[in-house]
Amino acid sequence: MEFTDLNLFRGLGEDPAYHPPVLKDRPRDWPLDRWAEAPRDLGFSDFARYQWRGLRMLKDPETQAVYHDLLWELRPRTIVELGVYGGGSLVWFRDLTRLMGIDCQVIGIDRDLSRCRIPASEKSNISLHEGDCAAVETFEHLRSAAHPLLFIDDAHTNTFNIMKWAVDHLLEHGDYFVIEDMIPFWHRYSPRLLEEYLGAFRDVLTMDMVYANASQQLDRGVFRRSAKKD
Ligand SMILES: C[S@@+](CC[C@H](N)C(=O)[O-])C[C@H]1O[C@@H](n2cnc3c(N)ncnc32)[C@H](O)[C@@H]1O
Repeated sequence: MEFTDLNLFRGLGEDPAYHPPVLKDRPRDWPLDRWAEAPRDLGFSDFARYQWRGLRMLKDPETQAVYHDLLWELRPRTIVELGVYGGGSLVWFRDLTRLMGIDCQVIGIDRDLSRCRIPASEKSNISLHEGDCAAVETFEHLRSAAHPLLFIDDAHTNTFNIMKWAVDHLLEHGDYFVIEDMIPFWHRYSPRLLEEYLGAFRDVLTMDMVYANASQQLDRGVFRRSAKKD
């Protein structure tokens, strides 16, 4: 038997398709004469329930609210997201910027696009690129992207080398680099290196305190490109 590395499914689940939750331990139609006994928890896995128009989206509602405010303020012409998975977040970014009247291209990069579920009819203003975050040279095509630019690392591989590449070759003053999910883990398991690595960017990035504390997934991971010093 070949064993698949189960870490592949960490935080994702085995199924990239969205299915409406099925309640296994309680009826969906709860009788009102037993109203007071009804469970107060959800009774189903929380992350798999987040979706946008039928596509799984791995951003919780608090995080969605932060991005909403950031998009409205930044009005990005390009959003780059590392880590596509089902593709729900790319469609959500495209739809939201379109609703806001922003002319924005959304670029998704993943080493495995086979799990992307975006239908062909939903791909306008979205481009998908196969690429491995371990090899920063695969990002060269991003150099011609329009600004303001929002760059999101949701693939969690080689983050600081990518951040360095983005600062050196891509980000302009006011652009954003966002690290999702990982900062609390790094802070717990490698606090010394984390501080040292972030400190290495002190002249080129700042942490935006409006957005950096507003959702768990973006906890202390929202950075803005500073003006270049001559
Ligand atoms: C957390 S999911 C992305 C979820 C998506 N951004 C969302 O919000 O719905 C992480 C994705 O990163 C991809 N990934 C993991 N390691 C990678 C690497 N080294 N290079 C490119 N993609 C990678 C995985 O294939 C997976 O689809």
